[in-house]
Amino acid sequence: MTTLIRKAVFPVAGLGTRFLPATKAAPKEMLPVVDKPLIQYAVEEAYEAGIRDMVFVTGRSKRAIEDHFDTAYELESELEAAGKQALLHLVRSVIPEDMNCLFVRQPRSLGLGHAVLCAEPLVGNEPFAVLLADDLMVGEPGGPGVMAQMAAAFEKQGRSLLAVQEVPQEETRRYGIVKGEDAGGPLLRIEEIIEKPAPEVAPSRMGVAGRYVLTPRIFEEIRQQPRGVGGEIQLTDAIARLMRHEAVYAYAYSGKRYDCGSKEGFLQATVELALQHPQVGAHFRDWLKTLQV
Ligand code: G1P
Repeated sequence: MTTLIRKAVFPVAGLGTRFLPATKAAPKEMLPVVDKPLIQYAVEEAYEAGIRDMVFVTGRSKRAIEDHFDTAYELESELEAAGKQALLHLVRSVIPEDMNCLFVRQPRSLGLGHAVLCAEPLVGNEPFAVLLADDLMVGEPGGPGVMAQMAAAFEKQGRSLLAVQEVPQEETRRYGIVKGEDAGGPLLRIEEIIEKPAPEVAPSRMGVAGRYVLTPRIFEEIRQQPRGVGGEIQLTDAIARLMRHEAVYAYAYSGKRYDCGSKEGFLQATVELALQHPQVGAHFRDWLKTLQV
């Protein structure tokens, strides 16, 4: 459990165009995988790491996220009156008593770097985590989650950390790509980082997954960062600037990532998590076996 990282930032202002029409009026972060919205998986991962202050960087038509992390008075009193204790507990467990939810708006879609900068007034001058809810991350069965692994690594060396995994050469265009030198165990000291390079120019196949632990100096670097790929202020570019002043490490996490920003990744997460679900898993497995695929 981390004591050094107290705050997690969740950039949730994105439009979710890859999931239209589902995301026309509903935030993409509220799409459920089995029975929980994507954003809840990310918040639970941060909570498990010991983080208690959750900072959501939201935008227009994202109110459902604020409501999800608030008390649902009508629902709770109806469940209570009906004696549905288990459901009541389930609803309340979304916001444990020692967790704080803070919200700030990103008024314009200027990119991930800009979204993180919007959180500065709520984060202040301390290290913090960033979790992209599109990336649903699970640790090894029975092991710690990805943010818990990164928080433990940060407690040891106090430098910014980026979760990385190997990606297929033809997919480098979808990721921040890092190149670095072995720093022992799962750590790589980053020498080069580049946002969404074409496969021909990618310096490696190590792609950044949506989990970061950053030192507060990043805010200053984002402020000075001109727009990059897609006309957006890229977090990746600001991290490259940060590397001029501080060492930054890549962390090869143990576990699995589902790219729930894509339909395929979302479907994979749904099937695999359904198979592990205590309530529906066994039946779902039997039913899957009956499919002629
Ligand atoms: C963002 C980052 C990228 C990172 C990716 C992980 O891109 O800019 O560096 O590899 O998240 O999911 P996005 O997927 O938001 O385009």
